[in-house]
Amino acid sequence: MASCAIHLLIFSVFIYITNFTYAQPSFRPDALVVPVRKDAATNQYVTRINQRTPLVTENLVVDLGGRFLWVDCDNNYVSSTYQPARCRSALCSLARADGCGDCFGTPRPGCNNNTCGVSPDNPITRTATGGELATDLVQVRSTDGSNPGRPVNVSRYLFSCAPTFLLQGLASGVSGIAGLGRTRVGLPAQLAAAFSFDRKFAICLSSSTSSDGVIFFGDGPYRFLPGIDVSQSLQTTRLFINPVSTASSSTQGEPSAEYFIGVSSIRVNNKSLSLNTSLLSIDSQGNGGTKISTVNPYTVLETSIYTALTTAYINEAAARNISRVTSVAPFDVCFSTENVLSTRVGPSVPSIELVLQNESVVWMITGSNSMVQVNDNVLCLGIINGGSNPRTSVVIGGYQLENNLLQFDIATSTLGFSSTLLGRQTTCANFNFTLSA
Ligand SMILES: *[C@@H]1O[C@H](CO)[C@@H](O)[C@H](O)[C@H]1NC(C)=O
Ligand SMILES: *[C@@H]1O[C@H](CO)[C@@H](O)[C@H](O)[C@H]1NC(C)=O
Ligand SMILES: *[C@@H]1O[C@H](CO)[C@@H](O)[C@H](O)[C@H]1NC(C)=O
Ligand SMILES: *[C@@H]1O[C@H](CO)[C@@H](O)[C@H](O)[C@H]1NC(C)=O
Ligand SMILES: *[C@@H]1O[C@H](CO)[C@@H](O)[C@H](O)[C@H]1NC(C)=O
Ligand SMILES: *[C@@H]1O[C@H](CO)[C@@H](O)[C@H](O)[C@H]1NC(C)=O
Ligand SMILES: *[C@@H]1O[C@H](CO)[C@@H](O)[C@H](O)[C@H]1NC(C)=O
Repeated sequence: MASCAIHLLIFSVFIYITNFTYAQPSFRPDALVVPVRKDAATNQYVTRINQRTPLVTENLVVDLGGRFLWVDCDNNYVSSTYQPARCRSALCSLARADGCGDCFGTPRPGCNNNTCGVSPDNPITRTATGGELATDLVQVRSTDGSNPGRPVNVSRYLFSCAPTFLLQGLASGVSGIAGLGRTRVGLPAQLAAAFSFDRKFAICLSSSTSSDGVIFFGDGPYRFLPGIDVSQSLQTTRLFINPVSTASSSTQGEPSAEYFIGVSSIRVNNKSLSLNTSLLSIDSQGNGGTKISTVNPYTVLETSIYTALTTAYINEAAARNISRVTSVAPFDVCFSTENVLSTRVGPSVPSIELVLQNESVVWMITGSNSMVQVNDNVLCLGIINGGSNPRTSVVIGGYQLENNLLQFDIATSTLGFSSTLLGRQTTCANFNFTLSA
């Protein structure tokens, strides 16, 4: 009986939060869209979102596995709609913020008494610190899947303040991190709750540093010029939850907010590598497995997997008369461009296949996503050796995601993936950002 009463209580608290946090606007979009641009200096992917009253456009590094949005509040954060989260309020529990704190200074965004705090995290420098939990207005564009439409507001979007030093290592002009992770307070969950659409989102990163890729929140269509709806042709695989947090700082028992998939084997030119398969699953300490990351610029492999892959790759390349040349940091395995033809899907080189739940579900990596052109004469395999005891055995990095569309369905734990769009005569830079009439 007692536990039943507690359940009822928890249930009513959540109803209260939903109503309280997200006042329903009169126009209810089916999906939202934001641009994302690769930063040339850091290879980070930077999105733009409006926040505060009056509105300010913030540049934010996209962290697919980041737990929430955090913003530097120390440097000129002025907003009439900023509200700190009061200690022990429902907002604090939503964000798993147990602590309760005071701030010895002049009251301002990021410094208030009787507020709860979280640990904003910089995944590039692996630094975490304390930050005040707060709400403020966030504005993004709605979309019909083809163009951006009218802007919509989330009046009480939950995020964390952070001190300016946490921006170290992030692209210039950036004021925080847009966390797309699998939590109740990640961007996908909050935006879906605000407008009552499915907890689905899709990322499509452009390889260009001068044209925008796109992130959609909500379901498809996801249309790219010339009129290709990529949501219609995705392969699907299961998303796994790592039971142990992979963040720089976390609370006991907190699962990872990152997105893991089940790679069962890896092939080079259709030939399976011989791998220690226990590295490919997540153990009870949260080690091993395969995750997808937008903050690692290139795929990182545990040493034995790296060695198996590069050895096979060098042999397959040699069989095509593609000769190895001196390494160019940070890459070990580089080739002469001589004897390498160009194709629509990048340089014609051996393919890499990530085999998922069975032999017919394969994420194919062609030259466009495996080879980095470091100069006119040299191409390097864009994969990094992660050492012998990394936390996660396979980290699929940004370069390997470019011009691939990935749809994450949080409710069903399903990933939809396209493999390269170049073979379908479009790219992630082909979303039509012209506002619809
Ligand atoms: C918090 O309370 C303390 C003690 O009352 C006070 O000295 C301090 O100025 C307050 N800080 C803020 C940000 O209001
Ligand atoms: C959204 O917020 C902005 C900034 O406060 C305001 O100007 C605009 O009218 C709001 N739009 C809607 C639809 O409420
Ligand atoms: C790999 O296998 C697929 C289908 O099984 C086939 O279409 C493709 O041509 C093969 N690639 C190579 C390099 O053998
Ligand atoms: C395979 O990997 C697991 C996990 O790292 C390790 O404990 C085991 O010793 C490895 N097996 C071999 C044969 O290397
Ligand atoms: C590689 O080069 C050798 C010697 O020049 C030639 O005989 C062979 O046909 C070439 N192989 C391919 C796959 O181009
Ligand atoms: C592979 O998995 C997919 C999706 O889980 C399933 O639809 C398909 O039947 C499987 N194919 C084989 C050959 O087992
Ligand atoms: C992009 O969208 C705008 C607005 O709908 C439309 O007028 C324009 O023709 C589109 N561009 C292309 C290249 O189709």
